[in-house]
Amino acid sequence: MDVAVVKTGVSTKRFIQISDCHLGPLTSETLLGLNTDESLHDVLALILNKEPRFDYMVCTGDIASAGHENCYRRFIDIVHQYFSQPFAWLPGNHDSTSIMSHLSLPELPESRAIDLGNWLVILLDSVVPFKVHGNFEQSELDYLERMLTANPDKHIMVMLHHQPVLVGSEWIDQYILRNADSFFAMLDRFPAVKAVVWGHVHQDFNSERNGVKLIATPSTCVQFKPNCNEFTVDTLMPGYRWFDLNDDGSLVTGIERVTGKQYIIDYKSAGY
Ligand SMILES: [Fe+2]
Repeated sequence: MDVAVVKTGVSTKRFIQISDCHLGPLTSETLLGLNTDESLHDVLALILNKEPRFDYMVCTGDIASAGHENCYRRFIDIVHQYFSQPFAWLPGNHDSTSIMSHLSLPELPESRAIDLGNWLVILLDSVVPFKVHGNFEQSELDYLERMLTANPDKHIMVMLHHQPVLVGSEWIDQYILRNADSFFAMLDRFPAVKAVVWGHVHQDFNSERNGVKLIATPSTCVQFKPNCNEFTVDTLMPGYRWFDLNDDGSLVTGIERVTGKQYIIDYKSAGY
Protein backbone atom coordinates (compact mmCIF):
# COMPACT_ATOMS: atom_id res chain seq x y z
CA MET A 1 0.00 0.00 0.00
CA ASP A 2 1.25 3.44 -0.94
CA VAL A 3 2.18 5.54 2.10
CA ALA A 4 3.26 8.59 0.10
CA VAL A 5 2.13 11.91 1.58
CA VAL A 6 0.95 14.69 -0.71
CA LYS A 7 2.39 18.05 0.36
CA THR A 8 0.40 21.25 0.46
CA GLY A 9 1.53 24.49 2.10
CA VAL A 10 2.20 24.40 5.85
CA SER A 11 -0.05 27.36 6.55
CA THR A 12 -3.12 25.87 4.90
CA LYS A 13 -5.70 24.46 7.24
CA ARG A 14 -9.22 25.11 5.94
CA PHE A 15 -10.59 21.72 5.07
CA ILE A 16 -13.92 20.88 3.41
CA GLN A 17 -15.85 17.60 3.52
CA ILE A 18 -18.71 16.60 1.23
CA SER A 19 -20.33 13.17 1.29
CA ASP A 20 -22.88 10.78 -0.18
CA CYS A 21 -23.60 12.47 -3.51
CA HIS A 22 -25.32 9.37 -5.00
CA LEU A 23 -24.82 10.42 -8.63
CA GLY A 24 -26.51 8.17 -11.16
CA PRO A 25 -25.36 7.06 -14.61
CA LEU A 26 -27.49 9.87 -16.08
CA THR A 27 -27.82 13.47 -14.97
CA SER A 28 -31.54 12.80 -14.53
CA GLU A 29 -30.86 10.43 -11.60
CA THR A 30 -33.02 10.99 -8.53
CA LEU A 31 -32.89 9.66 -4.99
CA LEU A 32 -36.34 9.68 -3.35
CA GLY A 33 -37.37 12.20 -5.99
CA LEU A 34 -34.39 14.54 -5.47
CA ASN A 35 -32.16 15.11 -8.49
CA THR A 36 -28.71 14.31 -7.09
CA ASP A 37 -26.78 16.22 -9.76
CA GLU A 38 -28.82 19.33 -8.98
CA SER A 39 -28.25 19.11 -5.22
CA LEU A 40 -24.50 18.48 -5.70
CA HIS A 41 -24.31 21.60 -7.86
CA ASP A 42 -26.22 23.52 -5.18
CA VAL A 43 -23.82 22.42 -2.42
CA LEU A 44 -20.72 23.20 -4.49
CA ALA A 45 -22.14 26.63 -5.33
CA LEU A 46 -22.74 27.16 -1.61
CA ILE A 47 -19.10 26.23 -0.87
CA LEU A 48 -17.95 28.60 -3.59
CA ASN A 49 -19.95 31.36 -1.91
CA LYS A 50 -19.05 30.58 1.72
CA GLU A 51 -15.44 29.43 1.38
CA PRO A 52 -13.39 32.05 -0.44
CA ARG A 53 -10.22 30.29 0.69
CA PHE A 54 -10.08 26.61 1.40
CA ASP A 55 -7.19 24.29 0.87
CA TYR A 56 -8.44 20.80 0.38
CA MET A 57 -11.73 18.97 -0.15
CA VAL A 58 -12.56 15.34 0.53
CA CYS A 59 -15.64 13.33 -0.44
CA THR A 60 -16.29 10.50 2.01
CA GLY A 61 -17.96 8.04 -0.32
CA ASP A 62 -21.20 7.03 -2.01
CA ILE A 63 -20.23 9.30 -4.87
CA ALA A 64 -22.19 7.04 -7.24
CA SER A 65 -25.58 5.43 -6.71
CA ALA A 66 -24.40 2.16 -8.20
CA GLY A 67 -20.73 2.45 -9.11
CA HIS A 68 -20.94 3.39 -12.80
CA GLU A 69 -17.70 4.72 -14.29
CA ASN A 70 -19.31 7.76 -15.88
CA CYS A 71 -20.57 8.85 -12.43
CA TYR A 72 -16.98 9.28 -11.26
CA ARG A 73 -15.89 11.08 -14.42
CA ARG A 74 -18.89 13.38 -14.14
CA PHE A 75 -18.25 13.96 -10.42
CA ILE A 76 -14.67 15.06 -11.13
CA ASP A 77 -15.85 17.27 -14.00
CA ILE A 78 -18.48 18.92 -11.81
CA VAL A 79 -16.05 19.57 -8.93
CA HIS A 80 -13.56 21.10 -11.36
CA GLN A 81 -16.27 23.41 -12.70
CA TYR A 82 -16.22 25.05 -9.26
CA PHE A 83 -12.76 24.56 -7.76
CA SER A 84 -9.14 24.17 -8.68
CA GLN A 85 -8.11 23.14 -5.17
CA PRO A 86 -6.98 19.56 -4.69
CA PHE A 87 -9.52 17.04 -3.58
CA ALA A 88 -9.54 13.38 -2.68
CA TRP A 89 -12.15 10.70 -2.22
CA LEU A 90 -12.68 7.38 -0.50
CA PRO A 91 -15.26 4.70 -1.39
CA GLY A 92 -18.67 4.05 0.18
CA ASN A 93 -20.92 1.01 0.02
CA HIS A 94 -22.65 2.25 -3.16
CA ASP A 95 -19.32 2.81 -4.92
CA SER A 96 -17.09 0.57 -6.98
CA THR A 97 -13.68 0.62 -5.30
CA SER A 98 -12.08 -0.96 -8.36
CA ILE A 99 -13.50 1.61 -10.80
CA MET A 100 -12.47 4.45 -8.47
CA SER A 101 -8.93 3.13 -8.21
CA HIS A 102 -8.56 2.29 -11.92
CA LEU A 103 -9.87 5.43 -13.58
CA SER A 104 -7.01 6.76 -15.67
CA LEU A 105 -7.50 10.49 -15.51
CA PRO A 106 -4.70 13.02 -15.00
CA GLU A 107 -6.76 14.85 -12.38
CA LEU A 108 -7.75 11.69 -10.54
CA PRO A 109 -7.73 12.11 -6.76
CA GLU A 110 -5.10 9.64 -5.64
CA SER A 111 -4.02 10.81 -2.25
CA ARG A 112 -4.77 8.60 0.72
CA ALA A 113 -2.88 10.86 3.14
CA ILE A 114 -3.13 14.62 3.02
CA ASP A 115 -0.42 16.76 4.61
CA LEU A 116 -1.93 20.00 5.93
CA GLY A 117 0.87 21.65 7.89
CA ASN A 118 0.79 20.25 11.41
CA TRP A 119 -2.07 17.94 10.43
CA LEU A 120 -2.24 14.70 8.51
CA VAL A 121 -5.59 13.47 7.16
CA ILE A 122 -5.66 9.70 6.54
CA LEU A 123 -8.32 8.25 4.21
CA LEU A 124 -9.43 4.64 4.77
CA ASP A 125 -11.50 2.14 2.78
CA SER A 126 -14.19 0.54 4.99
CA VAL A 127 -16.18 -1.05 2.15
CA VAL A 128 -17.16 -4.73 2.16
CA PRO A 129 -17.95 -5.63 -1.48
CA PHE A 130 -21.69 -6.02 -2.12
CA LYS A 131 -22.57 -5.27 1.52
CA VAL A 132 -24.04 -2.16 3.09
CA HIS A 133 -22.17 -2.43 6.41
CA GLY A 134 -18.50 -1.59 6.80
CA ASN A 135 -15.44 -3.50 7.92
CA PHE A 136 -11.70 -2.83 7.72
CA GLU A 137 -9.60 -5.51 6.12
CA GLN A 138 -6.42 -6.26 8.06
CA SER A 139 -4.40 -4.63 5.25
CA GLU A 140 -6.29 -1.39 5.87
CA LEU A 141 -5.60 -1.48 9.61
CA ASP A 142 -1.96 -2.24 8.83
CA TYR A 143 -1.83 0.80 6.53
CA LEU A 144 -3.31 2.98 9.28
CA GLU A 145 -0.78 1.68 11.80
CA ARG A 146 2.11 2.36 9.41
CA MET A 147 0.90 5.91 8.81
CA LEU A 148 0.39 6.63 12.51
CA THR A 149 3.78 5.19 13.38
CA ALA A 150 5.53 7.13 10.59
CA ASN A 151 3.96 10.48 11.55
CA PRO A 152 4.32 10.85 15.35
CA ASP A 153 4.61 14.65 15.15
CA LYS A 154 1.38 15.26 13.22
CA HIS A 155 -2.13 15.86 14.51
CA ILE A 156 -4.22 13.18 12.85
CA MET A 157 -7.71 13.13 11.33
CA VAL A 158 -8.94 9.74 10.11
CA MET A 159 -11.72 9.63 7.50
CA LEU A 160 -13.83 6.68 6.37
CA HIS A 161 -17.31 6.06 4.96
CA HIS A 162 -19.07 4.05 7.68
CA GLN A 163 -19.93 5.15 11.21
CA PRO A 164 -17.60 3.46 13.74
CA VAL A 165 -20.03 4.19 16.61
CA LEU A 166 -23.80 3.95 16.94
CA VAL A 167 -25.47 7.16 15.81
CA GLY A 168 -28.82 6.31 17.44
CA SER A 169 -30.96 5.10 14.51
CA GLU A 170 -31.45 1.32 14.50
CA TRP A 171 -32.04 1.00 10.77
CA ILE A 172 -28.69 2.53 9.82
CA ASP A 173 -26.74 1.37 12.86
CA GLN A 174 -27.04 -2.19 11.50
CA TYR A 175 -24.72 -0.92 8.75
CA ILE A 176 -22.00 0.25 11.15
CA LEU A 177 -18.26 -0.44 10.81
CA ARG A 178 -18.32 -3.98 12.22
CA ASN A 179 -14.74 -4.18 13.50
CA ALA A 180 -14.71 -0.77 15.15
CA ASP A 181 -13.24 -2.35 18.31
CA SER A 182 -10.00 -3.18 16.48
CA PHE A 183 -9.96 0.29 14.91
CA PHE A 184 -10.40 2.10 18.23
CA ALA A 185 -7.93 -0.19 19.99
CA MET A 186 -5.32 1.02 17.51
CA LEU A 187 -6.31 4.68 17.83
CA ASP A 188 -5.98 4.36 21.62
CA ARG A 189 -2.25 3.68 21.12
CA PHE A 190 -1.74 6.94 19.21
CA PRO A 191 -2.76 10.06 21.16
CA ALA A 192 -1.97 12.22 18.11
CA VAL A 193 -5.33 11.13 16.64
CA LYS A 194 -7.69 14.05 17.19
CA ALA A 195 -10.74 13.24 15.06
CA VAL A 196 -12.54 10.45 13.21
CA VAL A 197 -14.87 11.69 10.46
CA TRP A 198 -17.32 9.84 8.22
CA GLY A 199 -20.39 10.04 5.94
CA HIS A 200 -22.93 7.24 5.23
CA VAL A 201 -25.52 8.38 7.81
CA HIS A 202 -26.60 11.52 5.87
CA GLN A 203 -26.81 13.62 9.04
CA ASP A 204 -24.88 15.90 11.36
CA PHE A 205 -23.40 13.99 14.33
CA ASN A 206 -20.88 15.03 16.99
CA SER A 207 -19.52 12.95 19.84
CA GLU A 208 -16.22 12.22 21.56
CA ARG A 209 -14.35 9.12 22.71
CA ASN A 210 -11.14 9.22 24.78
CA GLY A 211 -10.49 12.78 23.64
CA VAL A 212 -11.04 11.95 19.96
CA LYS A 213 -13.81 13.88 18.21
CA LEU A 214 -16.31 11.67 16.35
CA ILE A 215 -18.05 13.50 13.53
CA ALA A 216 -20.54 12.69 10.75
CA THR A 217 -21.56 14.97 7.93
CA PRO A 218 -24.77 15.62 5.95
CA SER A 219 -25.18 14.31 2.44
CA THR A 220 -25.13 16.54 -0.63
CA CYS A 221 -28.58 15.06 -1.40
CA VAL A 222 -31.25 13.46 0.84
CA GLN A 223 -30.93 13.77 4.64
CA PHE A 224 -31.77 11.01 7.14
CA LYS A 225 -33.57 12.07 10.32
CA PRO A 226 -31.50 11.40 13.48
CA ASN A 227 -32.68 9.10 16.28
CA CYS A 228 -35.27 7.17 14.23
CA ASN A 229 -35.49 3.39 14.49
CA GLU A 230 -37.19 3.17 11.09
CA PHE A 231 -35.88 4.74 7.90
CA THR A 232 -37.02 8.37 8.00
CA VAL A 233 -36.16 11.17 5.55
CA ASP A 234 -35.37 14.53 7.14
CA THR A 235 -36.61 17.85 5.83
CA LEU A 236 -33.17 19.46 6.36
CA MET A 237 -31.38 20.71 3.26
CA PRO A 238 -28.25 19.24 1.60
CA GLY A 239 -24.98 20.55 2.97
CA TYR A 240 -21.26 20.18 3.65
CA ARG A 241 -18.84 20.40 6.59
CA TRP A 242 -15.92 22.76 7.10
CA PHE A 243 -12.97 22.35 9.45
CA ASP A 244 -10.42 24.78 10.77
CA LEU A 245 -7.43 22.65 11.75
CA ASN A 246 -5.35 24.61 14.24
CA ASP A 247 -1.59 24.18 14.59
CA ASP A 248 -1.96 23.20 18.27
CA GLY A 249 -4.11 20.17 17.40
CA SER A 250 -7.46 21.75 18.26
CA LEU A 251 -10.11 22.01 15.59
CA VAL A 252 -13.24 23.99 14.93
CA THR A 253 -15.92 22.56 12.67
CA GLY A 254 -19.41 23.33 11.46
CA ILE A 255 -21.89 22.55 8.73
CA GLU A 256 -23.56 24.74 6.16
CA ARG A 257 -26.73 23.88 4.29
CA VAL A 258 -28.35 25.05 1.08
CA THR A 259 -30.96 27.76 1.61
CA GLY A 260 -33.60 29.32 -0.60
CA LYS A 261 -34.33 26.11 -2.53
CA GLN A 262 -37.24 23.73 -2.60
CA TYR A 263 -36.70 20.15 -3.69
CA ILE A 264 -39.30 17.54 -4.50
CA ILE A 265 -38.52 14.71 -2.07
CA ASP A 266 -40.56 11.63 -1.21
CA TYR A 267 -40.60 12.04 2.58
CA LYS A 268 -42.85 8.99 3.03
CA SER A 269 -40.45 6.52 1.46
CA ALA A 270 -39.74 3.39 3.51
CA GLY A 271 -36.19 3.00 2.23
CA TYR A 272 -33.66 3.96 -0.39
FE1 LIG B 1 -23.30 4.69 2.50
